[in-house]
Amino acid sequence: MDSQSRAQDSAPASRSLTSATVEPLLTRDFDARPALMHERLRSQHGAVAPVDLLGVPVWLVLGYAEVLEVLRNDQGVWSKRVTDWRALSEGRIPADWPLLPTYGGHSCMFQEGRSLTELRAAWSAGLRPFQDRSRPQARLLEAEVRRYADELISVMGEDGGTGWADLSAQYARPLAILVCNRLIGFDAGNDEMLMDMWRLVDAGPDAAEALARLHATLSDVVDAKRRHPGDDLPSAMLAARPDYTVDELAHEMILLIGVVGELVGSLICLTAVEVITGNTGARAALAAGMLRETVNRVATANPPYAHLTLRFATADTALGGTHIAAGDPVMLSVSGAHNDPRFADAADPSSVHSSRAHLAWGAGPHHCLGDELATTLVTIAVGRLFERFSGIDLALPADQLPWRSSPIVRGLRSLPVRFQLHEAPDGDDATDSDASGQRETPAEASEGSERSGSAISRLVRMLLRQGN
Ligand code: HEM
Repeated sequence: MDSQSRAQDSAPASRSLTSATVEPLLTRDFDARPALMHERLRSQHGAVAPVDLLGVPVWLVLGYAEVLEVLRNDQGVWSKRVTDWRALSEGRIPADWPLLPTYGGHSCMFQEGRSLTELRAAWSAGLRPFQDRSRPQARLLEAEVRRYADELISVMGEDGGTGWADLSAQYARPLAILVCNRLIGFDAGNDEMLMDMWRLVDAGPDAAEALARLHATLSDVVDAKRRHPGDDLPSAMLAARPDYTVDELAHEMILLIGVVGELVGSLICLTAVEVITGNTGARAALAAGMLRETVNRVATANPPYAHLTLRFATADTALGGTHIAAGDPVMLSVSGAHNDPRFADAADPSSVHSSRAHLAWGAGPHHCLGDELATTLVTIAVGRLFERFSGIDLALPADQLPWRSSPIVRGLRSLPVRFQLHEAPDGDDATDSDASGQRETPAEASEGSERSGSAISRLVRMLLRQGN
């Protein structure tokens, strides 16, 4: 009998979250090696462990089957509505708890039932032109992203094609900002906006102020889109669901900044690290030209959305041998589920294609709506990087990389690398065809080039001013 089964068998049927001895989840060890922390919790408690999340007790779900069970929510027991949190409704969560602005979100990610169905339908309709790679807007977006990537790489190599760079601040983050700007249809997005998202997601002391700033900026944008629709996501979502209020759609756009700015940005860095270090078969997949497979391997080994926002039990229930009382919060650990031996040991290391049964995109009624787009963005970003660089290496030992301290995202504060660019940028290939190999029309190319050129030079000037 393994340690997990022992822990489950010996687990009292009705451990109470409030009386359980809980240890803090967010520690230096957790930031650096979350897998070790998961392992320890798993051997002590089994698939469901009580932990302290910045002073608040929550159940951390670490078992693959248990995470999947909650995600699928076949019995309708689990809710993402913060109003279903018993401790909150009983006034036991401090009003200034730094995760409250995130977990109490208003976007579709925090809805259930009919409003979830409606909001997801609007997201799907709005994203389709940008995500369905047979559509002209999707092809144009891909070409633009390639140009953004190429220009950012050229800026990095301005001092003679060789040197040192922070791939997070100088590549992944600005690229994500440019994509957000393009999708939202404005050019006012900047690094400060992404930093606000970072403050929100990492539960900084000023998370509430950061949310207020984001909401104010995005409300103005949405208001303008209602009056003057454009070829962008908010306009497409408004067309699909005309009764969106400005407030509602602004919250969906905050979600967009989160998923593109945070998650896509992080996955670009995580993929670069895995390819450079040669772990997890990512480098071999890239060398074989299998970019989407590279991304799949990294999303499995190091899911950027590592710990999902809370879900609450709407009735007493059992999960992985643990009694969960109605109103208790559970935090699903995607990275813990991927390290669960019941999932990890089933992988065939010799297989050319890695499993698609991972949970990096979630599953069930809240399954990610932008996984295709996210994969495309990351493949372009990482593909351009490794095509344009003739040499690239970490400027720090891999075990000294500065991980963010985040209860949600697995990401790096910075990604210092030494690089060498190929002598002649292969600009023709870079800009004339999209990720699917389709060539764009001259009109698309010149329109995109004008837009991206001005946006990138503004952004790069700003980053240089900030000393990035
Ligand atoms: C690497 C990038 C991304 C990762 C790892 C990721 C992962 C996820 C996961 C795990 C969920 C489920 C959350 C839960 O069940 O609590 C989710 C939801 C969602 N994702 Fe993504 N995502 C990424 C990028 C994107 C992009 C680019 C978009 C759209 C532009 C997007 C749109 C959404 C939306 C709208 C939801 C909410 C769905 C709902 O709650 O019903 N995601 N994402």
